[in-house]
Amino acid sequence: MAYANNFIALLFLLIFSHTFVQSDEEGHIKLEISNKGLDFLNNLLIKEAESSFVPLELPKIEKSVKIPIVGKVKMVLSNITIERIHVTNSTVKTGDTGIVIAVSGASANLTMKWKYSYSTWLLPISISDEGSATVEVEGMEIGLTLSMKTLQGSLKLSLLESGCYVKAISIDLYGGASWLYQGLVDAFKGKISSAVEDAMSKKIEDGIINLDSLLESLPKEVPINDIAALNVTFIDDPELTESSLDLEINGLFSAKNEVVVSNQYHRMLGASSSCKTANRMVRISLHEDVLKSASSVYFEAGKMHWIVDKVPDQSLLNTAEWRFIVPQLYKLYPNDNIILNISVSSPPIIKIGNQQIHSTIPLDMVLDVLDADKVIPVACISMSISASIYAEISQNGLTGIVKLNDFTVSLQWSKIGDLHMHLIKAVMSTTLKALIVPYVNLQLWKGFHLPSFHGYKLQNAQIFCTDSWIFICSDLVST
Ligand SMILES: *[C@@H]1O[C@H](CO)[C@@H](O)[C@H](O)[C@H]1NC(C)=O
Ligand SMILES: *[C@@H]1O[C@H](CO)[C@@H](O)[C@H](O)[C@H]1NC(C)=O
Ligand SMILES: *[C@@H]1O[C@H](CO)[C@@H](O)[C@H](O)[C@H]1NC(C)=O
Ligand SMILES: *[C@@H]1O[C@H](CO)[C@@H](O)[C@H](O)[C@H]1NC(C)=O
Ligand SMILES: *[C@@H]1O[C@H](CO)[C@@H](O)[C@H](O)[C@H]1NC(C)=O
Repeated sequence: MAYANNFIALLFLLIFSHTFVQSDEEGHIKLEISNKGLDFLNNLLIKEAESSFVPLELPKIEKSVKIPIVGKVKMVLSNITIERIHVTNSTVKTGDTGIVIAVSGASANLTMKWKYSYSTWLLPISISDEGSATVEVEGMEIGLTLSMKTLQGSLKLSLLESGCYVKAISIDLYGGASWLYQGLVDAFKGKISSAVEDAMSKKIEDGIINLDSLLESLPKEVPINDIAALNVTFIDDPELTESSLDLEINGLFSAKNEVVVSNQYHRMLGASSSCKTANRMVRISLHEDVLKSASSVYFEAGKMHWIVDKVPDQSLLNTAEWRFIVPQLYKLYPNDNIILNISVSSPPIIKIGNQQIHSTIPLDMVLDVLDADKVIPVACISMSISASIYAEISQNGLTGIVKLNDFTVSLQWSKIGDLHMHLIKAVMSTTLKALIVPYVNLQLWKGFHLPSFHGYKLQNAQIFCTDSWIFICSDLVST
């Protein structure tokens, strides 16, 4: 009855929230956990329960039993302890009602102490004895239904229903006479069974409360390094379908410890994908806004500039090497060293297309001459580099290949008169193709190590890019 009332209240809440609270928040990272992934998580949960539930002490049981010939005997079972729980079969299903976990064929081993006393008119003293016993619980069945909601950006797990049923138990008594054995078994089987059922149900309730506070304690922001943090606030209630459990998180980068209200990102709804979860545990979908927000945070933090004062062929950074391209530079500053002050002039434009990530990077390159220890800026050339990145996941982690598509150069300002931009472009083209792109590809080939999460990492991962989304389908393994 209470359950029915709760259910109606919940239903009202759902209808209410959907009608009146029009949420305009969108998740930019989606996590879909397939049935295979849920099985994996369920097995972890069961293993954890098997080890953390025991030893589990049950309240002592007292009973007076009438035994033929002997008379009325007072029996006490104490120190009843579940020492071991073993689950052989469990299943998890998602559906309209919630997450349903069914355990069938679990067994448990118990130990206990027994004691009896009785007095009879035949003897002047009361008789008592004590010993120990082991109990084996067979065919225990456990079922629970969980609901998962999002509350203030955290996942909230609650137990809607649970039940535990003990099918059969057998008792082995050490010490005692056969009359005692029969009396004990007959009188206590039912009581021990229901004590086990009650204790297990209570333990499951506590276990879910613990799991819920663990979920609640998960941070809403994960620091990536000392500049950026990833917003992992959950958005909307998890969606339960027959084939998966779908979660959405905000997923945008922000400057660390700074509240950035980023309204400029609007993802398109209804991402479809070529990456199927059927044979993988999870699918992670990243919207291109995640990459945009990351690049914008790094840009704002002033992390996108480089001073180039060392190159493999150092003579390139001397005015002498440039005398045919920029003769006036050589004339003014003969044989002086040059440094290049390169900075990204506005956040790179990122678009995720079919199997590739397009990026346009606007750069300003200031040519500095080092003359008698003074740094003299002489000219600034603006460039716009358009490249495609082909991402892959290999044993090295996340890797990729960059292909240069196109680039433009223009003169921003100059203190040394006009420059021959077509010559400059030719030099830059050679430099990009022969030096920069191979260097970047070498770095990319080394790969970015994919972080492990609480001791689990991705395995057999595949990556796909389509219209505005990157999809990663993967299994999980413990590290
Ligand atoms: C039995 O339980 C009592 C009370 O819980 C405890 O004091 C005692 O140490 C236990 N004995 C054994 C052998 O576990
Ligand atoms: C496990 O339990 C489910 C349902 O309770 C049942 O359909 C399945 O056959 C069982 N599997 C094994 C291996 O016993
Ligand atoms: C549990 O009981 C069964 C049957 O008596 C026995 O085979 C098994 O070894 C016991 N397990 C433990 C951990 O005591
Ligand atoms: C993180 O995301 C949540 C939900 O979209 C939002 O309310 C919150 O302001 C975000 N936090 C930061 C620091 O951007
Ligand atoms: C490089 O350029 C930035 C601004 O674009 C300037 O703040 C910085 O001082 C320059 N550094 C050198 C070594 O020229």
